[in-house]
Amino acid sequence: MTREEAQKEIEELIGKINYYNDLYYQKHTSEISDYEFDQFISRLLDLEKKFPELKNPDSPTQRVGGTITREFVTVEHRYPMLSLSNTYSEEEIRDFDNRVKKLLPGESFEYICELKFDGVAISLLYVDGRLLRAVTRGDGVRGDDITANARTIKNIPLKISAKVDKSEFEVRGEIFMSWDVFNEINREKEEAGEPLLANPRNAASGTVKMQDSSVVARRKLGCYVYGLLGENIGRNTHEQAIELLKKWGFNVSPTYRKCKNINEILAFIKEWDDKRNDLPLGTDGIVIKVNNISQQERLGFTSKFPRWAIAFKYKSKNAITRLNDITYQVGRTGAVTPVAELEPVLLAGTTVKRASLHNANEIERLDVRIGDRVFIEKGGEIIPKITGVDLTQRQKKTSPVRFIDKCPECGAKLIRTEGEAAWYCPNVKSCPPQIKGRIEHFIHRNAMDIDSLGEKTIDALFVKGFLGSVADIYKLTEQKIKQLDKFKDLSTRNLLEGIAASKKQPFERLLFGLGIRYVGQTVAEKLASHFKNIDALMQAGYEQLVAVPEIGGKIAESIVAFF
Ligand code: IVH
Repeated sequence: MTREEAQKEIEELIGKINYYNDLYYQKHTSEISDYEFDQFISRLLDLEKKFPELKNPDSPTQRVGGTITREFVTVEHRYPMLSLSNTYSEEEIRDFDNRVKKLLPGESFEYICELKFDGVAISLLYVDGRLLRAVTRGDGVRGDDITANARTIKNIPLKISAKVDKSEFEVRGEIFMSWDVFNEINREKEEAGEPLLANPRNAASGTVKMQDSSVVARRKLGCYVYGLLGENIGRNTHEQAIELLKKWGFNVSPTYRKCKNINEILAFIKEWDDKRNDLPLGTDGIVIKVNNISQQERLGFTSKFPRWAIAFKYKSKNAITRLNDITYQVGRTGAVTPVAELEPVLLAGTTVKRASLHNANEIERLDVRIGDRVFIEKGGEIIPKITGVDLTQRQKKTSPVRFIDKCPECGAKLIRTEGEAAWYCPNVKSCPPQIKGRIEHFIHRNAMDIDSLGEKTIDALFVKGFLGSVADIYKLTEQKIKQLDKFKDLSTRNLLEGIAASKKQPFERLLFGLGIRYVGQTVAEKLASHFKNIDALMQAGYEQLVAVPEIGGKIAESIVAFF
């Protein structure tokens, strides 16, 4: 293939990919299968590898990442990235409105109310319609250049398709992680025995600062934009600016509304107090902005905040209820988690009966006792937490909770490793929830994907003594399976076929499925591509393991200990 032919094909591929991306991300439809789409991307990757000089920074292949940033370069913002003054009270919103009225005497004005998205602020610089630089807020004056990572975010346009006559402009917005992605990552982390992400905001801010942009790509961040800056942009109002951004292909949340007066603002705040729980991402309030840009300019800034905007923050929802009991759950890794059993109470639309108490330290920190009236809160996280105890209501003769010292499932004496918060059941070989948990993890769709073997079947086979380890899965026979209720010829055959098919899964899935602590999906992929097979990995010592990029001491130790 000649360079000219390659160039022609690359242009055609980019045209097609951008077209399908636009359909998918902006218009939410699709004309081709994911498989066909991936074929276009992989052909383009091939051509760009063969003809590196033909690769563009705004090629859609940038979406899959691959750039490693050793250290982020600090960049000064052209326009400082200020924050907003925050309030939790309606009164202060009225004060804000009165101040605006006073500073714009006799003028009429209106507001745009938007949701306050809970993520990381980003500044995106476009030159000649192409994304040139993405910079975090930093201290407001200087931030980090995270362009390679931002390019992997699908709803940040790399190139503006519409004709844009402004040679330079800057877009401001918020990078976020949706609840779905956040929950999925935490489920995987839990399975890998890794510490969980605290909330989607921390997860997003940690992700944009990762060194390997291909990992960022897999974390599927999103971005909403809410600001347009530059010289002579040709917009008179904030509303026009966001409409323009929408036209250029940016992702603008459809939730904003024009409000003519304080009552309309308060109605907007009230309306979204509940409705925001149905959004796919976290929001923590409302931002109220004067719509007209020349009025914004005249209102100007105080030393810290704009005078033309304010944020109203929602208080997180809380309730008081009784702690009836504390029960203990044993996970796949043997970690014992205390769970608060609560008197059922309604909180932000759902009935709450249980809350995690995390570990013994947390029980001690709260000094929570059985029978106490406790405060529970639903903040940025979906699972409610206990935030405190109403000591004025404490009954006499209560005593501090004594954390159990034996496993509630198998009776083994619990152990605690220095520096770790959790107590563990050390009976790895025969504690039932640990065995069943490991098997459930092994067959999970992200691991060996044996969907013919569900939780109930695992339970039944375990009770019969046929499943004591993941290896036993491959010793199951027709004769054993048929001893279970409901298993006839067809279902037995399905189960055995599912097990047989799993033997064809690639090495990284097997490795993830083994459930080695700290070996989640990403780490498993890295190890698999380096060691190729299980024998090589088993023989690797600590030194060899830490020599693999991104494998640290903790992971290496855990692998050595496992084998
Ligand atoms: S406008 C002059 N609009 O909240 C400040 N900010 O405390 C202009 N945020 O740093 C910011 N959603 O990270 C604006 N719809 C929205 C927002 C929003 C979230 C964040 C942003 C900013 C912080 C301000």
